[in-house]
Amino acid sequence: MNMIDKIHSKFTELYGSDGTLYAASGRINLIGEHTDYNGGYVFPGAIDKGITAEIRLNGLDKVRVYSADYDESTSFGLNEEDKPAQAWARYIFGVCRETIKRGGKVEGFDAVFAGDVPLGAGLSSSAALESCFAFAINDLMGNNIDKFELARIGQSTEHNYCGVNCGIMDQFASCFGKKGSLMLLNCKTLEHKYYPFDPKGYKLVLLDSCVKHELASSAYNDRRRSCENAAAAIRKRHPEVEFLSDAKRLWLEEVRAEIPEEDFLRAEYVIGEVQRVLDVCDALERGDYETVGEMMYQTHFGLSRLYEVSCEELDFLNRLARKMDVTGSRVMGGGFGGCTINLVKNELYEPFVKAAKEQFAARFGHEPKVYDVVISDGARKL
Ligand code: GLA
Repeated sequence: MNMIDKIHSKFTELYGSDGTLYAASGRINLIGEHTDYNGGYVFPGAIDKGITAEIRLNGLDKVRVYSADYDESTSFGLNEEDKPAQAWARYIFGVCRETIKRGGKVEGFDAVFAGDVPLGAGLSSSAALESCFAFAINDLMGNNIDKFELARIGQSTEHNYCGVNCGIMDQFASCFGKKGSLMLLNCKTLEHKYYPFDPKGYKLVLLDSCVKHELASSAYNDRRRSCENAAAAIRKRHPEVEFLSDAKRLWLEEVRAEIPEEDFLRAEYVIGEVQRVLDVCDALERGDYETVGEMMYQTHFGLSRLYEVSCEELDFLNRLARKMDVTGSRVMGGGFGGCTINLVKNELYEPFVKAAKEQFAARFGHEPKVYDVVISDGARKL
């Protein structure tokens, strides 16, 4: 049975009749990592893997929801003190609460949902879940909240109900994704531009290390704090620096002795990454994928050595890509495990994937999972 049939048969079993189907996607990011909360640029796209939910208003003042993937049900009220115990349900609860905080109406509903976006792989399964429910509730309640605010509802859910002080990239990509296009997003202004992405002669492929870092959210929040410390120190001399992305490399140098070395290294990475995204845009305009790939390797180096969000498994996959002359490769997303994203010439695709499976398995005891990237639409009613 496909996912939609599975969801629908569970929905009728639990609640009797039909609901409406909604979906939202996970995302990839070509380049621009950990730049979003620093006011920089990112270059994401929604993918063909995400969350699908069937939903119907139930006339009660509570939400009843079943997660097919966890095979678990829960129900909760819509007031602040009704926060559910299950971590997965807090994403939905948070979306309800953040909608209400923005003046939107939320009434009780029944829902069944399932996903095909791998969890903890750096593909933003949580943003897909938030965006799916934010979009669905907005549509069912006729709240007329625009898509920018729907993305912010997901982001605030992470901040206020899930303990991750994330940027806007994942929720934005999940809400605004467009089939076949990546998006260049200015995270300060939310100005964005779609870039049709069809690199002739190349493929994008993800290799999932299957590593999940336990302390990923606290380590993520630490990285963000380091960046804010560095930006605050620079701001004392250069008041125009609102976000770290506004700072010049030289200005960071000026405050080196005033901030912990760790914060300096984090900031050094971010300032380099902000420039790399712009370089990649130029290269894409010229169809120069070799430069795009080179920038990806530079990003990996920064994420691994300066930002320290890589791990042995991801560094292994990155080194193997370099050794085999793969055009570009880097750890993708928040890091601390998850996937590398690889830009591979068509003729190298098969041998690279084969070598990655064999050599990774020989070293770590299991194969990486392989996902071909298909750039797809964002949140929608089915
Ligand atoms: C996670 C966060 C995003 C972004 C990336 C790193 O996916 O949710 O906001 O910061 O990490 O680029």
